[in-house]
Amino acid sequence: MASPRGEFSSRLGFIMAAAGSAVGLGNIWGFPTQAASNGGAAFLLVYLILAFTLAYPVLMAELIIGRHAHANAVNALRLISPNRVTRRIGTATGITGFIVASFILSFYAIVAGWMLAHCVAAVSELFRFNGLAEWLTEFSFARNLGFMLIFMALTVGIISEGVQQGIERWSSRLMPMLLISLVLLVLYVFTLEGAMDGLRVYLLPDFERALAPDLILNALGAAFFSLSLGVGTMLIYGSYISDRENLPVVGGLVTLVDICIAVLAGFLVLPAMYVALHNGVEIFTATGELISEDTLIFNVLPRLFDTMGLAGVVVSLLFFFLMSIAALTSSISMLEVPVAYTIEEHGVGRKRAVVVIGTLIAIASTVILLNFEALFGLVVAATTRYSQPLLGFVFCVYVGWIWHRDQLLQEVRKGSDRVEHGLFWKIWPGYVRVVCPVIILLIFAQSLLG
Ligand code: PHE
Repeated sequence: MASPRGEFSSRLGFIMAAAGSAVGLGNIWGFPTQAASNGGAAFLLVYLILAFTLAYPVLMAELIIGRHAHANAVNALRLISPNRVTRRIGTATGITGFIVASFILSFYAIVAGWMLAHCVAAVSELFRFNGLAEWLTEFSFARNLGFMLIFMALTVGIISEGVQQGIERWSSRLMPMLLISLVLLVLYVFTLEGAMDGLRVYLLPDFERALAPDLILNALGAAFFSLSLGVGTMLIYGSYISDRENLPVVGGLVTLVDICIAVLAGFLVLPAMYVALHNGVEIFTATGELISEDTLIFNVLPRLFDTMGLAGVVVSLLFFFLMSIAALTSSISMLEVPVAYTIEEHGVGRKRAVVVIGTLIAIASTVILLNFEALFGLVVAATTRYSQPLLGFVFCVYVGWIWHRDQLLQEVRKGSDRVEHGLFWKIWPGYVRVVCPVIILLIFAQSLLG
């Protein structure tokens, strides 16, 4: 079928794009920082369990609905609904999803702007513009606003190019660079004094902490955020996959890449924190809590790089460049959610939709910047900690209870005709129907009561 909608040109193109969406600030800024403030290895353990047992099944739900409907989340949930009530709930879920995606982008662009600013700061240091470098690394409204706007402009530019020319081409170029740079940095940090202390914190779990309700809810939010779930991003990427692909396999690969990069980033950030500590940088308060979680890596890493002399400037450039890349391949996937909806629902041209929505989101980011203390943490928690898992819950209910099981099987069978004899079909349908929704609700209930 020659559809007017975009489609990824190959399996690799899809995996790059979906992994590009999944791998982002969530892996390299969010996950290691959360791990550091939630007991290191205890958090890692719970995160790994939740990522494989809850996030992967929800990812599959989104990909399968998306490919079946070949549409954005709103239309897709409507399409698989058998009656008026479920159609209405589906519409409301899809719309909530794109609003949440837009708010995620509004804080994400701010953090990504910090990454860009640090990257440019390293370049200016190389050319000895030290005053400029200082301004770029200090927290000011002007810097925050300027770099947020630059980052949004980059995102808007890529998304206006569409699926193959924009999303796929850029993700395939940027993702391998990211992986290589990360591995090199990890190897380098391991050679430094103090790194082993960080490694110990990261790898030796305190099992008692792993059962704390708050830790579990944080890890759930982190896993959903990291795999870009709940807001319709993976659903819309699923809608651009060709019918020949074996979804459980490609979904599994994306999950694996995402988790590996988060874990790898932990091998960089936790040891780096302890190297910094070893060099006299304060990272904990007297009560043992992390100083300013949101900006932790901006406090710790530049100081760490400083201690390396000229090599440090190059390492810093590499690191923040890598962070900016990772952020960009994710931000484009967030912007695609409201854009795809607006194009498909209201018949607006792509370029126009992208510019209008990008501007609205940049305005939201500006409001957050003007009230940073009050709004930043609030928007992060409301979108990632609460909205994403709850929306994921609704996706499970649609796949498990509302969508007709025969249609579901037909869809999964498309890229692999023997799928109903395999392990995936034996476990997954019952699992998304009962186990996933129940566990998500239990984690919420436990955290509210606890
Ligand atoms: N998964 C991305 C990251 O880890 C964030 C993201 C969330 C992207 C929701 C799209 C949708 O940074």
